[in-house]
Amino acid sequence: MQVPFFNFKRRIGSQLESLWHSIEEVVDSGEFILKKQVAGLEQDICDYTGAKHCIAMASATGCMTLALDAAGIGPGDEVITPAFSYVSTASVIANLGAKPVFVDVDPESYLATPEAIKAAITEKTRAIIGVHLFNALVDMPALAELCRQKHIFLLEDSATTLGGRYGALNAGLAGDAGVYSFFPAKPLGGVGDGGVVVTDNDELATRCRMLRNHGQDGIHRFTHHLLGYNSRMDDINADFIRKGLPTLDSNNEQRRQIEHLYREELHGLDGYLSFQRADRFQTVPYALVLQVKGRDKLKQYLADKGVATKIYYPQPLPLQPAFAYLGHGQGDFPVAETIAMHSLSLPIYPELSAQEVIYVCQQIRAFYAAEY
Ligand SMILES: Cc1ncc(COP(=O)(O)O)c(C=O)c1O
Repeated sequence: MQVPFFNFKRRIGSQLESLWHSIEEVVDSGEFILKKQVAGLEQDICDYTGAKHCIAMASATGCMTLALDAAGIGPGDEVITPAFSYVSTASVIANLGAKPVFVDVDPESYLATPEAIKAAITEKTRAIIGVHLFNALVDMPALAELCRQKHIFLLEDSATTLGGRYGALNAGLAGDAGVYSFFPAKPLGGVGDGGVVVTDNDELATRCRMLRNHGQDGIHRFTHHLLGYNSRMDDINADFIRKGLPTLDSNNEQRRQIEHLYREELHGLDGYLSFQRADRFQTVPYALVLQVKGRDKLKQYLADKGVATKIYYPQPLPLQPAFAYLGHGQGDFPVAETIAMHSLSLPIYPELSAQEVIYVCQQIRAFYAAEY
């Protein structure tokens, strides 16, 4: 059996006809960028999450950059972020001239906890990025309280977590601003890159809106009030994403059931692998990242059996060449380093069948039975 890591054909297959239709509509209207469908998506996301403002952009990375820029983060500022994460959560800080201050993560949830973040605060800390990773939500309500007390800007990286919740509150809304990504593999995937900022802060929303289109105010064309960016969303993509929103909750539920099935099928392999610990919040299992014994051998074994896997992420961020200038070395972030050495990401998407999950788990069991 072949089990691909993502299966875009399965995902998009049933929506192809409506995609052709929206391409035709947009081409006929000539309204390609930041027009009707983009405005519609912004309203849909506000309705879905309860956010006051939603600003659509070209990617979630762009959203994080512009939200921090709009908050005035720049040279001389420190921004706290996890040592184990996707690169954007640190590169956006550095690209604004601020200093990423990395904190090590919790060995079971892989997240930077509010306690670890609190310990890293200095008088230069101007912002914190709370990052949700894979299938765990960071305790944003606790971080929000900390930031309120210390007057620190809180950005919630909920790029992978649209549909997650802390009780009644949607993930993405706990900080001063949150972001969601529409990269095709994300829970609400587009047909290309895309992202949104959500915020209840009027001034921040206005600045983000201007920054995404070269600092223009949407009224006076070619008057640039701010030094901005081109981080605009395409209407064809926005239309496609809008059409996916009504099935987001059921797709997320499907992801949870698949995660549960993996847990059942891999039960009893405690000495060989462990699942990421997800706390009390309602998570979105965007990726299934296990800690496994003999990672590289298992990865190859699964590949030979037709199962595609990935490594999220092979290096802690502080040890990436791009951050060498910060002077971190091996041993500075021991938990992040251990996780990076043992992580293996298995296929998980709503279209994955139970038979496929069972097949993957059978192969993992066969590997450990043969090797250990
Ligand atoms: C945790 C996290 N933050 C941010 C991003 C960036 O999203 P985008 O690819 O839309 O820029 C990603 C993308 O994978 C991510 O996983």
